[in-house]
Amino acid sequence: MLDQLKYQPIHSIPESGEITAKSPSNIALVKYWGKKPIQIPTNPSISFTLTNCFTKTSISFKKSNSFSFNFTVKGVAKPSFIPKIESFLDRIKKWCPFLFYYQIDIDTENTFPHSSGIASSASGFSALSLAIVELEQKITGITNENKYLKASFLSRLGSGSASRSLYGPAAIWGHHKNISSTNDHYAIAYHDLHENFKNYQDTILLIDKGTKKVSSTVGHELMHNHPFSKERFLQAHNNLENMISVLQNGDLDKFIEISESEALTLHAMMMTSKPYFILMKQGTLSAIELIWSFRKESNIPLSFTLDAGANVHLLYPLAYKQQVLDFIGSELIVYCENQQYICDEVGSGANIIRASYA
Ligand code: PMV
Repeated sequence: MLDQLKYQPIHSIPESGEITAKSPSNIALVKYWGKKPIQIPTNPSISFTLTNCFTKTSISFKKSNSFSFNFTVKGVAKPSFIPKIESFLDRIKKWCPFLFYYQIDIDTENTFPHSSGIASSASGFSALSLAIVELEQKITGITNENKYLKASFLSRLGSGSASRSLYGPAAIWGHHKNISSTNDHYAIAYHDLHENFKNYQDTILLIDKGTKKVSSTVGHELMHNHPFSKERFLQAHNNLENMISVLQNGDLDKFIEISESEALTLHAMMMTSKPYFILMKQGTLSAIELIWSFRKESNIPLSFTLDAGANVHLLYPLAYKQQVLDFIGSELIVYCENQQYICDEVGSGANIIRASYA
């Protein structure tokens, strides 16, 4: 299965160059929570790929006798990110030996505010991985299909959910016995969306912009020896299969049921692990209550999902955008820090913006 990922040089290695890639964040509908070394998920997941929340990453590289790298955010050094990138580069070394002939400058920027509670690891690692594999394509001539597959594979080694950001409108990561081509090593694109889900909206209420109380690494860890993990992993397999039917047949009621239950289960897992955590804030719960009454009163198929934090993602069809924005403005905005929310929607995945070689 991993044969396509091997490095097989056929062309010469460029002396220097610069590659810029762009990759969006994604929001899981069926959540990945729990992993085995190295970044192998304990259950499969599916996400919508986003559009407006993205990372743009440039790598400038110059041939050198010894490898080194530099990391900046919009040109400013960020030493706190270095250990994560170092461990990522170490993990991908075997798969991308060509990278280590260079001195590399990595510069990155996010469209969404830093520390907004929106994880930048998914968009960040997928943008960086795609830029790296673009260079590999120059050296080896791998096909575009294998380029994305390998970029997803490398992204996974940085952050599991990043593997899903490469493709739109949705992506599945993790083996499911009834869904062909699914595997634990890289994500696959999922295209078969009913009309109801085309341009589906995700408006993110920034309830708490503080840094996460529990890192996802620690959170995944807590699923080992968790009293409910076996049932949870089984449930995720069932939910994924049902979610795929829903995405195909456009059943919005069932979509709401599965995605909200997944969000609450993710948080329930955290509340029942040892040690236990509550990552929702009062604003999260108030927003959920209001979403439920709004849906009941208006019959608008507005639902929510959550990541491992307090922010609330509002999911709904494009046709209801104005009504939902009015509802946010009148009832939900009071729960958003600095009245901030982000309007996003389902998108098409990562791409290369620029590549030049010397
Ligand atoms: O990719 P990680 O290790 O940051 O984990 C992400 C986990 C969730 O965002 C909570 C769920 C998911 O599937 O994206």
